[in-house]
Formats: sequence, C-alpha cells, structure tokens
Amino acid sequence: MSDKITLSIIKADVGGWVGHGSVHRDLLATADERLAKAKKDGLLIDYYRGRVGDDTSLIMTHEKGVDDEGIHKFAWDTFEAMTEVAKKLKQYGAGQDLLSSAFSGNVRGMGPGCAEMVFKERPSEPVICFLSDKTEPGAWNLPLFKMFADPFTTAGLVIDPSMHDGFDFEVHDLMEHKKIIFHNPEEMYSMLAFIGAPGRFVIKYVYRRDDGEVAASTSTQRLNLIAGKYVGKDDPVMMIRCQSGMPSVGEAIDPFAHAYMVAGWMRGSHHGPIMPVAWDQDTPNRFDGPPRVVALGFQIANGILGDPRDMFDDLSFDNARKEALMAADYFRKQGPFEPHRLGLEDMEYTTMPKLMEKLKSKWEAEEKVEVKV
Ligand code: F6R
Ligand code: MG
Ligand code: MG
Repeated sequence: MSDKITLSIIKADVGGWVGHGSVHRDLLATADERLAKAKKDGLLIDYYRGRVGDDTSLIMTHEKGVDDEGIHKFAWDTFEAMTEVAKKLKQYGAGQDLLSSAFSGNVRGMGPGCAEMVFKERPSEPVICFLSDKTEPGAWNLPLFKMFADPFTTAGLVIDPSMHDGFDFEVHDLMEHKKIIFHNPEEMYSMLAFIGAPGRFVIKYVYRRDDGEVAASTSTQRLNLIAGKYVGKDDPVMMIRCQSGMPSVGEAIDPFAHAYMVAGWMRGSHHGPIMPVAWDQDTPNRFDGPPRVVALGFQIANGILGDPRDMFDDLSFDNARKEALMAADYFRKQGPFEPHRLGLEDMEYTTMPKLMEKLKSKWEAEEKVEVKV
C-alpha cells in the first residue's frame, strides 16, 4: 500500500422518492451492490454509501489520487445504473444530475458533485463528511470560515501551536473560472469580501500553513452554470480532517449550532435556514426543505472507513433545529417576496428570462419627466 490514501465523495441526484425528498431503497441497493463489488475487485479500499434528501453520496477510499478516471467512471456508471432503476420505478427526475450523455474522463462539469483529498494517514485520522440537500456550493463558506479562521469557534487557533500560523483558503470564482489563495489570518478581511458572496465565490480547499497539509475539501460547481438552465441546486458535500493540529471534532461541527441562512430550498430559488439533522430526519419535505445538512464522522484506519457516527444526532443541536424551524416560519410568511425569494441576479438562470421574453411586448415606455433644477 502506498503511504497516501485518497478520500473521494462523488454524489448525485438521479431520481427522487417522492418528488425531491428522498432516494428509493432500490436505487440505494444498486449503489451498495456496485460499491461492494468495486471493493472486492480492489478498485476501492473501502466505501460508505451516504444519503441526504434526494442525493446519494459515494464515499470512497482508494490509492488512485484525485480526478482518477477509473474512480470517476465507476461513480458515473453507478449513477447510470441507479438511473435505470429510477426510470423503471418512475422516480421523480430520473437521471437529473447526469447532464452529459456519455462519460468523458472525469465527472467534473458533467453534473455529479465531487470533493476529494489525498493525504498520508496520521496515527489517528478522524474525518467528518458533511452532506447537504437543497442548497448551493457556497453554503460551506460560513462554517469553513468559522472552523479555520474564527478563534471564537476554534480555540485551537489560539491554543494549539501547530494551528497558530493559520490556514490558507483556496477560493474559486465560479463565474470567471479563476482561483486565488488567501492567507489567514492576515488576509481575512479581503477574503471575507469575496466569500461573503457564496453564490459566486466558493472555498474549495483549506490547507494548514504550518506544513501545507490539506485540511478541507468541498464540491464546487454550479449545476445551472454548467447546464445553462435551471437544473436544481448543487447540494454540495465537504470533508474535514480533525484533531491534532486541525479543528477538533467539536470545533468542526460547532458552526452548525447556528442555522445560518443559505440559498436553495424550494425550486433552488429561496433563502432559508440550513438545519443540521440526524440521519433519520434528512428528508426535506416542508416547501421542499428547509435545507438540510448531515454529518458522518469516520475514524479512518489504514484506509478503512469503518462505521460512521451520526454527528448531529445529539441534543446539543436541538436549539439549532428549533432556530431553523422558527426561521423557516418567519421566511415562509414572506411568500414570493425577496429576500425570501432569491434576488433577480440568481433568478436569471430560472424562470425570469422566459417571463421577460413573454411579456416583452406588454411593457410600454414610461413618459419622460423633465427634471428642472
Ligand atoms: C430544489 C428542488 C425542488 C424542485 C421543486 C419543483 O432543488 O429540487 O424544490 O425545484 O420540487 O420541481 P419540478 O420543477 O421538477 O416540479
Ligand atoms: Mg431532485
Ligand atoms: Mg438534492
């Protein structure tokens, strides 16, 4: 075995069980069978099949590095096999995230979301995988900032000498396809100017400055920018390495004790709270939401993921859930009005262009009013 392992999460929505709320067990069984075979065949060291709402996550360890064609093709073929089952069962939006008709080397830009990282396993390697539904890739910006740059969240930034130099954030501009590294803490204010706009600027990786070790990786893409039309929100995933010079497990999940506001929810067109939930509460039903996040804690050993722990199945997140429910009631009372509904810029990729076109001839020029000074 090489001294480095790769952790990959490749996820997709290939059909919802009932509407966009969950995944039918027959689709999950298809994923399970294929994952078990891939492990038996030696492609994977280990795997865990995760789910949140209508999204299935293939969480995989292997030795092939990031962007590996074999791993990505395996994931693509798995989603295609699940799509076949979804079509037979007439699941909703069967094959929704498979935007291309054929695989071409890498799932990036083809619909499924993907977060990966390569690292040398430490003497003990706790990793938390966060999976979300009904929200956008930038939804991780706020918790990542808190975990890796906010000393009020992560005491280790102050107390642990190996964290004291801070962390580098790799931020991607999803519109202009550019990336930049911000060194924290000294470039924090500049970074916030960008990551505070999560619809466009998204944190892709976080690295520890002490030794350059990768600490976090997210799936960044915007489905609607790939497809050129509305195809649902991206429902991103994220992986965080914890403890021993990284945020502790408790510091990594603490940002979710506040149900912060994200874009997504109904028709991907509304702001609402993100609610941390246990796995048995991960079906967004009310107004197709509110957006949800689940957390799977793994204690990786020689590449073996083992049984994950359900990190939000904990009463210390009850207040966050209550806060989310209260915020959901508050937002919903505003119906189709901004800012519950997203602003025009984001609606641009949805129904607005068609509506503008349809009503073009009905608009009349307003009479010019002379302003006399
Ligand atoms: C949001 C989402 C759902 C759907 C909504 C309408 O990401 O997937 O909220 O947008 O249920 O779905 P359609 O247009 O398929 O009827
Ligand atoms: Mg769906
Ligand atoms: Mg989804």
